[in-house]
Amino acid sequence: SMLDKNGFDHYMLKEIHEQPQAVAQTINGRYDLDTGKINLKAYGINHINLKEINRIQIIACGTSYYAGCLARYFIEKFTGIPVETELASESRYRSPTVNSHTLSIAVSQSGETIDTLQAIKFAKENKAKTLAIINAPGSSIAHVCDDQSLIYAGPEVGVASTKAFSAQLASLILLGLAIAQEQKKLNTHKISEYIDELIKVPSFLEKVLMLSNGIKEISIKYYNLNSLLFIGRGHQWPVALEGALKLKELSYIHAEGYAAGELKHGPIALIDEDMSVVCLAPKDSYYEKTISNIEEIRARGGKILSVGTEGDKELQNISDDFIAIPECSEIILPFLTAVPMHLLAYWVAVRKGTDVDQPRNLAKSVTVE
Ligand code: G6P
Repeated sequence: SMLDKNGFDHYMLKEIHEQPQAVAQTINGRYDLDTGKINLKAYGINHINLKEINRIQIIACGTSYYAGCLARYFIEKFTGIPVETELASESRYRSPTVNSHTLSIAVSQSGETIDTLQAIKFAKENKAKTLAIINAPGSSIAHVCDDQSLIYAGPEVGVASTKAFSAQLASLILLGLAIAQEQKKLNTHKISEYIDELIKVPSFLEKVLMLSNGIKEISIKYYNLNSLLFIGRGHQWPVALEGALKLKELSYIHAEGYAAGELKHGPIALIDEDMSVVCLAPKDSYYEKTISNIEEIRARGGKILSVGTEGDKELQNISDDFIAIPECSEIILPFLTAVPMHLLAYWVAVRKGTDVDQPRNLAKSVTVE
């Protein structure tokens, strides 16, 4: 590529470190903090009437899909509107349930993924209002949609998406606030409070990026494993899915992401002294329940690598390895727990000696169905 690695060994590591800037660029100029208003035009909404939306569908593949799965919690909370997340390659096999009051959102870093393109066309044919959330300007997906919103994460070269993920999440949260504003589901005061939280994300990201060396050390214990589980509850479930995806695609180690509460319905059978589980358990509203899931893993001899809140001795005591993230609000939290997922996959892959920026069998943008 023509782009410089800026002193980093790989584009992926450079892009992981560009996350604060990427998120800042996504949200910049799109709100007015004094009035608590999201600027729809600056966001990219020029044709769609957000007042008329009563159903939301997020269509995407890979990491972009997980950004959608995460955003769903926030959009539903802000707007009260049901949000469905659809894997693009599967969405056309369902009877179309969209109509002119549905907002179908295609989330795609490249804007060229063929499955996402076909799926958003299908939604449009069935009268949905269509919005493209993309990073690459002028892409095919943007062309077919009624409106387009750029995330401005800057070019992403590493095949495994990192900074685009964080920027997509920030963009979708802003969109949720914009819909809540238009439908008067949140008052301007509440919207400013949420924007205030979003604005803090870049500086919190700077802090978690300092975990890189510690995670590099921990990776010694993990690069020789054959299989790992990743668990999380609520917002942390999609982060677990993303963590497992990153690990398998970069290091070729089998990894599975699971909802913590679903562990008892199957994967717990896999737990013995040879199984390691990455447990996402920051202090959030589901914390206590996640801890009891972790205790069940521990009781069966499973090894635990946990990501939790700084100073959480209870979690640290039941973990073999503990990665601490700073205390923060629930909006900021998934941005922060995703970073150790990226870094773990990165350092494990570097130790294994795989081709980090260009893993085997994968492509940055997939234009075959
Ligand atoms: C490929 C890439 C992934 C990406 C996915 C969706 O599989 O390797 O990193 O998440 O496509 O790409 P998109 O450009 O649509 O976000």
